Amino acid sequence: MSDQALFIRDLVTQNREPLDFVGVAARYNNDHLALSGITCRFEHGTSTALMGANGSGKTTLLGLICGFAQPWKGTISPAPSEKSVALVAQQHGQRAWMPVTVQDVLRMSRFRDRGVIKRFGPADRIIVEDAAERLEVTDLWNRQFGELSGGQRQRVMVAQAMAQDADVLLMDEPITGLDLPSQETILRIVDEERRRGRIVVISTHHLDEAEICNQVLLLANRLIAAGTPKEVLTNKNLREAFGIREAHSDDEDCAFHDERSEGAIHVFEDHGHGHDHAHRH
Ligand SMILES: Nc1ncnc2c1ncn2[C@@H]1O[C@H](COP(=O)(O)OP(=O)(O)OP(=O)(O)O)[C@@H](O)[C@H]1O
Ligand SMILES: [Mg+2]
Repeated sequence: MSDQALFIRDLVTQNREPLDFVGVAARYNNDHLALSGITCRFEHGTSTALMGANGSGKTTLLGLICGFAQPWKGTISPAPSEKSVALVAQQHGQRAWMPVTVQDVLRMSRFRDRGVIKRFGPADRIIVEDAAERLEVTDLWNRQFGELSGGQRQRVMVAQAMAQDADVLLMDEPITGLDLPSQETILRIVDEERRRGRIVVISTHHLDEAEICNQVLLLANRLIAAGTPKEVLTNKNLREAFGIREAHSDDEDCAFHDERSEGAIHVFEDHGHGHDHAHRH
């Protein structure tokens, strides 16, 4: 199937109803209120970046979209079960031990569509090979998944999510720990998948990654701001979200600059959580 045929099939088969959160709150067993008052919309054909400090509720919000967690208050419509969702989970740097090859991992992505008894057919093969090529993991095809480096494994997991061909693509900190070419590949994928009509939602600590998305939600266990990157990524909002100790630029109110060399933002320092935090010099 050509790229164009895949694209048209995607548009035809997708449920294009936007995903609406109204007054959503989430809490964990220990009564910890992870999110509250979240009202926002995720449209098909758009990308959204979730930004916020560690513990601000980004992964929780992705879990709500997946249906892994139920809202404690508020509504999500349509119900997450009415859309197909692919998730690339947050990486923690551990070496996964899985006695499977990269090829096996990618082929597993097609289980949902073909069920357990149907054969892995030519259409499945094309979709999996297309995803592998786009994430540049074809040369790793026969390698053991558990023996890959963290960055290689991350690219395989993104390829697996793409091959699921889902209505909604969620990626939790997809570029953390990746080298620059791999980061660029993932950023390109975010844009391509959005153009294919999917709802794409990523969490990130990188301003550059947030700036390429259509919408940014700035979280601090509540919604500090929602809108375009330019509207949301202001010094005032970032200070509120991160409790910024230092934020300086020529334009005090706007952290977003079209000229990438301009401005300096030190959103917050690395406290050893292993994240690459947002910096612009
Ligand atoms: N399984 C859990 N049980 C109890 N509390 C949890 C659980 N998972 C997350 N939390 C709490 O909910 C809040 C939001 O956590 P979440 O993982 O959504 O944050 P995050 O923005 O993804 O953070 P990070 O940038 O570190 O990934 C935190 O205070 C966290 O301690
Ligand atoms: Mg998280």
